[in-house]
Amino acid sequence: HDVVDVIRTKRDGGAVPEDALRWMVDAYTRGYVADSQMAAFAMAVLLNGMERDEIRVMTDAMIASGERMSFAGLGKPTVDKHSTGGVGDKITLPLAPLVAAFGVAVPQLSGRGLGHTGGTLDKLESIKGWRAALSNDEMFRQLREIGAVICAAGSGLAPADKKLYALRDVTGTVEAIPLIASSIMSKKIAEGTDSLVLDVKFGSGAFMRDVDRARELARTMVALGTDSGVSTTALLTDMNTPLGLAIGNANEVRESVEVLAGGGPADVVELTLALAREMLALAGQPDADVEAALRDGRAMDAWRSMIRAQDGDPDASLPAPNDTHIVTATTSGFVTRMDALPFGIAAWRLGAGRARAEDPVLHAAGIDLHVKPGDKVTAGQPLFTLLGHDDTRFDRALEALDGSYDIGPDAPATTPLVLERIT
Ligand code: URA
Repeated sequence: HDVVDVIRTKRDGGAVPEDALRWMVDAYTRGYVADSQMAAFAMAVLLNGMERDEIRVMTDAMIASGERMSFAGLGKPTVDKHSTGGVGDKITLPLAPLVAAFGVAVPQLSGRGLGHTGGTLDKLESIKGWRAALSNDEMFRQLREIGAVICAAGSGLAPADKKLYALRDVTGTVEAIPLIASSIMSKKIAEGTDSLVLDVKFGSGAFMRDVDRARELARTMVALGTDSGVSTTALLTDMNTPLGLAIGNANEVRESVEVLAGGGPADVVELTLALAREMLALAGQPDADVEAALRDGRAMDAWRSMIRAQDGDPDASLPAPNDTHIVTATTSGFVTRMDALPFGIAAWRLGAGRARAEDPVLHAAGIDLHVKPGDKVTAGQPLFTLLGHDDTRFDRALEALDGSYDIGPDAPATTPLVLERIT
C-alpha cells in the first residue's frame, strides 16, 4: 500500500478500500506513516467525509491497535453510558449505581476534565480515599459483586486513537464527524460492553453547538455500535444551560448524592431517569421502575458500596471552599437565560478544571447556582455563589460571566431537555 494514494483517494472524494484503511491505521500506530501524512488524511476526511462502511473499518482498525476487554464471564449483561460532555454534567455518578441496582453491570471507563467541561474522575476524587485506577481484575470483581464501576480507562484501549486525537487537536481536524464517531466508539467497543447509551449534547456548553450536527454525530455513532454488535441508542439533549445547580467537583458529588437520596434538581433527575430507562431497556428490563430505586435507597446502597470498593469513604465530609463570592440580581423579574459555556469557563477559571493535562484541580472550587432559567427573582436576591480556594481570582471568573445571564419581565419559553431519541 501507498499512503499517498490513500490520501489522494480521500482528497478527491473517493472511498478508501478496506485493506488500505486498515493498513494505514496500523502503520500509523507503529510509526511507519508520518504525522504529516495522517494530518493530511484527517483534513481530507474533514472536508469530504466518509461512507458508513469506511467509518466502521476505521473504528475497527483503531480497536485492533490495542487490547480488547471482555465481560463475557460476568454472568450479567453489561451496559455503558457515554456523554459527549457538558457543564455540570455529573449524571454518571447517580446513574451507574442506579442501573447497577437492577442487577446489571455498568463499566464506566471515564476521563478527566480538560477545558471547560469537567471530568467524572476529577469529581469523584473529591471523596476522601477514592481511587480511580483499578486493575482489570479489580474491575471485574467489582462488576460481579456490586455492578457499578467508575474508573480510569487503561492506556491499552485504542492507542491509535490516542495518537490520532492528539494530532487532530493541533491540526484543526477535531470537528470531523467520522473521526469523532470512530474515536469515541473505538474506545467503547474495545471496552467490551454489550450495549451502550449515548448522551449526545448540543448547545453552547457542548462540543457540538449545532443540533443538526449533534444529530448527525448521534446517528453515525448509533450505526457504528449497531454494525459492531453493540446495541446502541442515543438521546439528543440540551446543553445550552448548565445541568443542575452545581458546577465543579465536590459540589457535583454532593448534588449527585442528593439525587441518590431521592431529591436533587429536576433536570438532573429527569436526565438520570431517562438514561437509566434507556440502559435498562437495552439490558432487557424495559419496565424497570427506576424512580422506585431512587426513592427506596437501593441506588444509594449501590453508590455506597461502589465508593467503598474503591477505597473511598462515602460518609467523609467533602472539601469546602475557603472563600466565596455571591452574585445577586440587579433587577426583579424572571431568569430568562444562563449560558452554559461562560458558566463552565468561570468554574474552570476558579480552579475546578485544568488548562494542561498534568495540572491538579481544586476540588472545592466551582459555582453553586441558586436559581435556574424560569425562576422568579427579586432585586438583591442571590443568583449564584462562586466557590474559591486560597488565591482564587474571582475577577477572572466574573469577567467570563459578564453578559452570560439575563433577567427579564416575562418567563422564558420552556424547551425540552431530551429533544430526541435516536435508534
Ligand atoms: N471525544 C473523543 O474521545 N474523541 C473525539 O474525537 C471527540 C471527543
